[in-house]
Amino acid sequence: MECRLAEHAGFCFGVRRAMETVYKQIEENPETPIYTYGPIIHNDEVVKELLSKGVRAIEDDELDTLDGGIMIIRSHGVPKATEERIKSRGFKVVDATCPFVKKIHRTVEKAGAEGKNVIIIGSREHPEVQGIIGWCSTPFYVIEDISDVENIPFGKDSEIHLVSQTTYNLLKFKEIVDYIEKKGYYINVVNTICNATEERQSAAMELAKAADCMIVIGGKNSSNSRKLYDICSRECANTHFIQTLDDLHLELSKSVGLVGITAGASTPNNIIEEVQNYVRNEF
Ligand code: F3S
Repeated sequence: MECRLAEHAGFCFGVRRAMETVYKQIEENPETPIYTYGPIIHNDEVVKELLSKGVRAIEDDELDTLDGGIMIIRSHGVPKATEERIKSRGFKVVDATCPFVKKIHRTVEKAGAEGKNVIIIGSREHPEVQGIIGWCSTPFYVIEDISDVENIPFGKDSEIHLVSQTTYNLLKFKEIVDYIEKKGYYINVVNTICNATEERQSAAMELAKAADCMIVIGGKNSSNSRKLYDICSRECANTHFIQTLDDLHLELSKSVGLVGITAGASTPNNIIEEVQNYVRNEF
């Protein structure tokens, strides 16, 4: 029996970079209190492990109660005013915002300096979009789906700079942009969708097509992991969704030739490896 890990599984570049930043800070600053502004990733095991090393995830209202230290900004990024507030409270800011997200901050900031309005395609309440909004200095508008195009508050003669949340669906994005253009708006489109999610999903689908059994590792509340599970289940009826190795109760018949493994964006490597080793050694 063969056990194969999907080509793109687990942490994306931005999340891996943020995690490495935290560990580097721990190593270099053993005497300084270190915090992350919100949980660094949505994985309870990781948050617990960091806490055991003294790194606490704090909420915004706790800022005023702390006496400084190092504050790490997670890969989603934060609004400009938040960054400034953290600094003004005496913290040293270590920015682990994903460079792809940072690029969006810079581009809307520049658009603002040039007096252009901004449209952001994405989920209004998502922290990444909240962060992007916080770098806009001119009027902005968030489009969640195509029906929002009807209510664009800008004139057709105004210049509009359009960006997207990094995880927005590419097909939907194109559809919305086409529609806005058809309506006669003057937009400057910057496609800021990151292909990490897409790559992970198509690699999982390819592997599930070939596998007799699929294991998807991810947090219960992680929507991208659930999505991977849905994609894999469609291709392989024998698909298991687990958080850690403890959840795995596999019984494999002799006819199983290939077991595939994939993992959501917030699943750390050590959990993936543990599952992989277990399957390889037990079957
Ligand atoms: Fe990850 Fe950065 Fe893309 S956080 S999903 S690599 S935008």
